[in-house]
Amino acid sequence: MRQPIVVLGAQGMLGRAMLAELLRRNLAHRGASHAEVDLARPGSFAQGIPAGTGTVINCAGWTNVDAAESHEEEATRVNGVGVGELAAHCRSLGARLVHYSTDYVFAGQANAPYPTDHPRSPLNAYGRSKAVGERLLEQSGADYLLLRTSWVYAPWGKNFVRTISKLAAERPSLSVVNDQLGRPSSAEQIARVTLELLHAQAQGTFHVSDDGQCTWFEFAQAIVAHAGSGCRVEPCSSAQFPSPAARPSYSVLDLSATTALIGPLVPWRTSLADVLRRLEPTSPAAR
Ligand SMILES: NC(=O)c1ccc[n+]([C@@H]2O[C@H](COP(=O)([O-])OP(=O)(O)OC[C@H]3O[C@@H](n4cnc5c(N)ncnc54)[C@H](OP(=O)(O)O)[C@@H]3O)[C@@H](O)[C@H]2O)c1
Repeated sequence: MRQPIVVLGAQGMLGRAMLAELLRRNLAHRGASHAEVDLARPGSFAQGIPAGTGTVINCAGWTNVDAAESHEEEATRVNGVGVGELAAHCRSLGARLVHYSTDYVFAGQANAPYPTDHPRSPLNAYGRSKAVGERLLEQSGADYLLLRTSWVYAPWGKNFVRTISKLAAERPSLSVVNDQLGRPSSAEQIARVTLELLHAQAQGTFHVSDDGQCTWFEFAQAIVAHAGSGCRVEPCSSAQFPSPAARPSYSVLDLSATTALIGPLVPWRTSLADVLRRLEPTSPAAR
């Protein structure tokens, strides 16, 4: 990775983790904000991703799962068509493109971890928009690395860990769904694993998350136990908390292709403990 790396969505949760990891490894890079490179405005690519760029790491995307239900066209413009146009731009430069997708491209009815080549069958508009992006990337002819991840959190940004930590300090009890099973993923671990996969010359589709699996209820229990606030966590069903977008009940990603290349991934409880020690205070905007 001698040519410079451009990170898109640099101010998002994963983008910020990626910039920190690139800095730590002393790799030449530049972050581009939404204002500089807009996936819905391919005219912004030439200036933000100039000739000479070696790798583009796309941490940008439409990530509001519930809002995508009523704005599917806009979500698809960014997560679908925009990704295809980005891949075409990277191809024209001879740059490698790293792109992130989601467990939500699968229907969630499996009872064993989803392998990387399992057929896509999304349940909601966000999943459909990401599936369009995956397909256009595969068809683009670009040199790409497609990394599906799930349940992402960090000491910063809008995420479940910060929300539950804050609520646990304010409330005597919380109800959390216990009928969706998945894999939490620390954004900092995703950044680390991404660069290890690039270093290993990985190409194509891989799954990246922390090791192990849990329900949102079990995840919340672990967060609250760390806070030591005395808040009770009660299990409930998804039917008790209807949301605009349907969520898959089983979205465990098979990590074997990734671990075969770069070795074992960090257990989710280890990552969580590390992040909880460094949690940034929740601002009103991140609630
Ligand atoms: N969070 C999760 O649990 C999760 C799970 C699976 C996969 N992923 C994937 O992981 C990637 C990173 O997600 P994240 O959690 O870091 O999301 P995030 O914190 O919401 O960051 C997304 C970034 O993309 C930017 N953005 C939005 N629309 C854009 C556009 N049209 N052009 C350029 N930038 C745009 C946002 O900027 P503004 O804030 O200014 O709009 C923000 O900086 C995404 O591809 C997401 O689909 C996330």
